[in-house]
This record gives sequence, structure tokens and C-alpha cells, in this order.
Amino acid sequence: MVDSKTITKAKMLQSPMELKETISNLSAEIKATTIKTAEDLETFRIKFLGSKNCLKDLYKELKNVPNENKKEVGQLINGLKGEAESKFEESKKYVASKNQTFSSGIDLTRPAEQLELGSRHPLAVIRNEIIEIFSRIGFSVSEGPEIEDDWHNFSALNFPPEHPARDMQDTFFIEKGANEMALRTHTSSVQVRVMENEKPPIRTISPGRVYRNEAISARAHCFFHQVEGLYIDKNVSFADLKQTLLYFAQEMFGGDAKIRLRPSYFPFTEPSAEVDVSCTICKSEGCNVCKYTGWLEILGCGMVDPNVLKSAKIDHNVYSGYAFGMGVERIAQLKYRVGDLRLYSENDVRFLNQFKSAF
Ligand code: DAH
Repeated sequence: MVDSKTITKAKMLQSPMELKETISNLSAEIKATTIKTAEDLETFRIKFLGSKNCLKDLYKELKNVPNENKKEVGQLINGLKGEAESKFEESKKYVASKNQTFSSGIDLTRPAEQLELGSRHPLAVIRNEIIEIFSRIGFSVSEGPEIEDDWHNFSALNFPPEHPARDMQDTFFIEKGANEMALRTHTSSVQVRVMENEKPPIRTISPGRVYRNEAISARAHCFFHQVEGLYIDKNVSFADLKQTLLYFAQEMFGGDAKIRLRPSYFPFTEPSAEVDVSCTICKSEGCNVCKYTGWLEILGCGMVDPNVLKSAKIDHNVYSGYAFGMGVERIAQLKYRVGDLRLYSENDVRFLNQFKSAF
């Protein structure tokens, strides 16, 4: 730091060479000064531009400079003054803008607010869990179109022409007539596509959205989600089916879950069964969810009907298989105790936020 008083007294009689050196030292000092705060700015102002600033001493010295050097030295001092002035103006703007930022209420030193992460939809959580459980025992995932033809949704699955599911009342048709197209009513259509395209052994599950012409209520919806399962190989038996479903129920609902199979009918399986799992809510004691039976229906299943294998050109004398189909909403309903199906498609964040901890 150069002290203005020292310059005034000790260097009153400087030679032009010495003066030039003093000027260039001061110029370097101006450049090197960092001004961040209002106090820095004031210190700078007092030293270089105030009433007793160090440049004044230089102007005094100019009188003693021999005439032939006066012009040059004078210009140098003027230049130095200009440098100090522009440094001051620039710094003044900088300090003012910083103050404004703080006084406008934005504190740039505050840590950023944490971004709130979204959560997975409960149906996606359950679907992923189902996929995960079956992939552990060698099932792949296959998907098919939601707009489906009559063959894959009905005919190849052994639905007779007069079957009530083919009625407009149950199915959303997009095109009637020879080129009949509809929104698929179940994911069983994907098992036909897989059998047509792959050779046994086949072990796959097909998750997806399905559509039915139903009035929307707490217990019914015009679209919902299913996971279809299909296993085709030599010597596949009903015992394999039963064991696979028990494994699934215990992975999904806990190690003490039990299953029971009730005889049923589906056009595409023979024999067919409906599967109940022991009530997860009352532990089979009886509650209003299981209607005091201790059991909850979770899926339909059976041995693939030989007619279905024939439609897919798989030799039913060599191969057999099982199939099953479950509703994703139904499983979610049991795991999360959500009674009203409509909640799954309303996108109400108050509902969705409750699944934050699910993966
Ligand atoms: N497709 C049937 C439905 O939507 C569910 C089903 C039942 C699928 C039995 C199957 C099965 O594969 O074997 O209700």
C-alpha cells in the first residue's frame, strides 16, 4: 500500500524517472485492488479520489518537473486518475447490484430447496412385483396390442361364436364385420400371439391394460389391468400349476398365505379353476373384505385347452400347459386395502402420495 502522506513528504522532490515509477506502482495497485463490499469501495475512494487523495500530491510535484518532461508526466497522472475513476464506477455498480439482490429478498447463499420426488403408481408397483416374482422362476415378459382382432381375443381361445363375451354389451368394438377389431377384453390374447410365434418350452407372463364395456363404479371399471401367465412344455401337470400359484401367493402376500382352488369354467382352459388366497386382512378369522369366508378370490387358471394349442399349431399330443390370469387392481386392493377401483385412474395426488415408500 502506498501512503499518500509519505509521497507528499518524502518524495516531494522526485525526478521525472522516479515520478514515472510511482505512477506505474499506483496504477498496478489500482488494478490489484479487489472491491467487494461498500467498505472496500469507500477505502478506495478516500485513497484515490477523496479530498486528500494521493494523486493530488503527484499534481503538486508536476510543478517541479522540468518543462521538457511536463507534458508526458502530466498525461501519465491524468491517465492514472482516469483508471481510478473507472475502477470506482465499475465497483460501485457491482456493490449496488449485490445489495439489491439481498434487499429484494433473494438470498443467494441459501441452500437450494429440495426437489420433491414423485412416486410410482400403486398399480405399477404391484405389476413390477408380479413380474419380479415370476421372473425368479424363469418366466419372461411378453406384451401384445391393446387393439386386438377377433381371432386373438376370442376365436383362437376357443370362444364359441355365440359366447356372451362377444356381445357389444361386454366388449368395445372398434370395427364390426369381416375385419372385426376390438379393445382386448383380457390379456389371454397375448398367450395366443406368443404360442403362434414361439416354440415350446414357453414360460411367459403378459402384463397389460384391458377394456370392458362396464359402467364405472367402485367395483367395476371400463379399463383395468391384468397379468396373464402361460407355461407350455412336455408333461406339464395341474400339480405344477398349483405349486406355482402357491409360490406366487406366498411371495406376494407372505409366507403363511394359503391357496384353495375351486372348479370353474373358461373356454380356453380345461379343467379350469378359480383361486382364492387366505384372507390377508383378518388372517382367515373373517372380516367384511372376505365376507366372513376367510378367503379372497385372486385369479383364474387351468390347463390350456387342446383346442387352443391346435389353433396355435402346437401339437397337443406332445405338449401340455397351464395358463392363469389375474387382475392387478385386485391384488393392489388386497395389499393396500383400497376399496374403490376408481381411485386408481383419477390421479388424485392425495391418493398417489400415500405410495411414496413403495418401490
Ligand atoms: N382371461 C380371464 C379373464 O379375463 C382370466 C383367466 C382365467 C386367464 C383363466 C387364464 C385362465 O389364462 O386360464 O377373466
